[in-house]
Amino acid sequence: MRRNLVVGNWKMHGDMRSNEMLLNGIISGVQELHNADFVVCVPNPYLFQARALLEKTNIHWGGQNVNQHEEGAFTGAVAPHMLTDLGCTYVLLGHSERRNLFYETNLTAAARFDAAIKAGLTPILCVGETLAEHEAGLTEVIVASQMDAVMATLGEQDFAQAMAVNMVFAYEPVWAIGTGRTAMPDQAQAVHEFIRHRIARRNPDAAAKVRIIYGGSVKANNAESLFAMPDVDGGLIGGASLHAEEFVAICQATNSVTASTCLAELT
Ligand code: PGA
Repeated sequence: MRRNLVVGNWKMHGDMRSNEMLLNGIISGVQELHNADFVVCVPNPYLFQARALLEKTNIHWGGQNVNQHEEGAFTGAVAPHMLTDLGCTYVLLGHSERRNLFYETNLTAAARFDAAIKAGLTPILCVGETLAEHEAGLTEVIVASQMDAVMATLGEQDFAQAMAVNMVFAYEPVWAIGTGRTAMPDQAQAVHEFIRHRIARRNPDAAAKVRIIYGGSVKANNAESLFAMPDVDGGLIGGASLHAEEFVAICQATNSVTASTCLAELT
C-alpha cells in the first residue's frame, strides 16, 4: 500500500511575511492529517524560515532544484549537501520550467538525480509532454524518453539507493501547468499506469512501491477525483499551494482518499 504525497511548489513566490502566514495556515490545517505525506518546496533563501517553522510538524520541506556538483565554481548553484544541511528531505528535478526556461536537459536531470539520491534526498522527477506533443499523440514517447534518460544511468546499486530514498515521479503535462486546463482523471491514470509499467520492466517490486504524483492545475475542486485513480498517488501543486485554504483542502482530499482506500482494502 503506497502512502499518498502532496507537494507544494511555490516557484519564485513569497517573502518573509507572507511565507510565515502561509506556513502557519498550512500547519494548522494539516497537523491532524496522518494518512499522507506533505511537502513544501520553497525558494532557497527561505529554507531557513521553512525549517524554523516546520521542524516540529508533520510537514516536510524541500528544494525546487539542485546542482549535480558537490562544490566548486558554479555561481548561483546549490549543492545537494546544502539542501540536506537545511533539513530538506525532498527535491524537485527536471521541472518543465527548468527544461524550457533554463535549458536543462534529460542529461542534467539524470546527473542531478544521481547526486540527489547519493546525498539521501528524495528526488521528485518531473516528466510530461507539451501541448504540441500531446496533440501529435507523442505523450508516451516523450514520457518514456524522459524517464529512460534517468533510469538508464542508474546501475543496480544506484537503483537500490533510489528506492531506499523513495524516489518519486511526477507526471506534469506541460499543457496543464498554470493553465487551468487539468488532465481528466482517466487521462492522468493512463499515463501514470504507463510510467508504472515502464518501471516494472526494470523492477516489478519497485514499480509497486514507487509513488507517481500528478501535477498541472490541481485545485481543491478536482483533487479528489484525480487522487481517486489507482495509479495517482497524490499531487504536485503550483498555484494552489500559495493559498493556505486551497492547499489544505487538497491535502485533506488526499488524506481522505488514502483513508477510504485503506478501508476498502480491509473490508
Ligand atoms: P500548477 O503548477 O499547479 O500551477 O499548474 C504545477 C507545477 O508546475 O508543478
